Amino acid sequence: MVVKTLTLNQRSKEDNNDDAYFYSTPRFVHHLDEGFRSRLTELYRERISSNSTILDLMSSWVSHLPNDIKFNHVIGHGMNRLELDRNNQLNKYWVQNLNKCQKLPLEDETIDTCLIVAGWQYLQEPEEIAAELKRVTKNNGQLIVSFSNRAFWTKAPRIWIEGDDNDHINYIKSILSSQGWEKVEHLAEKIPAKGFQKIFTDYTDPFFSVIARK
Ligand SMILES: C[S@@+](CC[C@H](N)C(=O)[O-])C[C@H]1O[C@@H](n2cnc3c(N)ncnc32)[C@H](O)[C@@H]1O
Repeated sequence: MVVKTLTLNQRSKEDNNDDAYFYSTPRFVHHLDEGFRSRLTELYRERISSNSTILDLMSSWVSHLPNDIKFNHVIGHGMNRLELDRNNQLNKYWVQNLNKCQKLPLEDETIDTCLIVAGWQYLQEPEEIAAELKRVTKNNGQLIVSFSNRAFWTKAPRIWIEGDDNDHINYIKSILSSQGWEKVEHLAEKIPAKGFQKIFTDYTDPFFSVIARK
């Protein structure tokens, strides 16, 4: 039995149309800036071994994994088939609206590392997803949830839009802990802009990551 902690109001969002409409057109853009993306790839290099089976949940045409490492197997999930089809880091993928159905079509304890990038903020049933990710993760496997301070705000539930960066970190940590994830830690980093970007800003998109072990 999954422990539910959010209220109905916290799960509600401005745009209640089926998420499938919103994601029906592919977006071949980067949702996060270059500084964020390179920090994320560096984190993956530090934390994921090449013999891993990886699940990139809520993915797109990019998975941010280091290109020079050949991972054992990378499974992708998302909302737009054309985006996932163009993601050359995925060995296979499937499309599923997680706000409609939370059951993942994966066997128990088959994944070493689960990833979510800029996706958690759209989950209306995060407790079920945290429980499902734990089910499919091998013992001692890990989950890495990364995000910044951007979102498609009309598609994000109130729990996200009403919180600040610290609230977002604490919210994800509390949901993961409530579903039995262990050693829940986080990274919160300001990344100085480099090169051309320095003309416009001192810092890149802020980098946040919540990391947990099964
Ligand atoms: C801002 S994009 C981030 C995509 C990708 N992780 C990246 O780093 O570019 C948000 C993603 O969340 C996923 N997503 C949003 N709403 C969803 C839903 N209801 N069910 C499943 N996935 C959803 C989609 O895969 C969408 O591409």
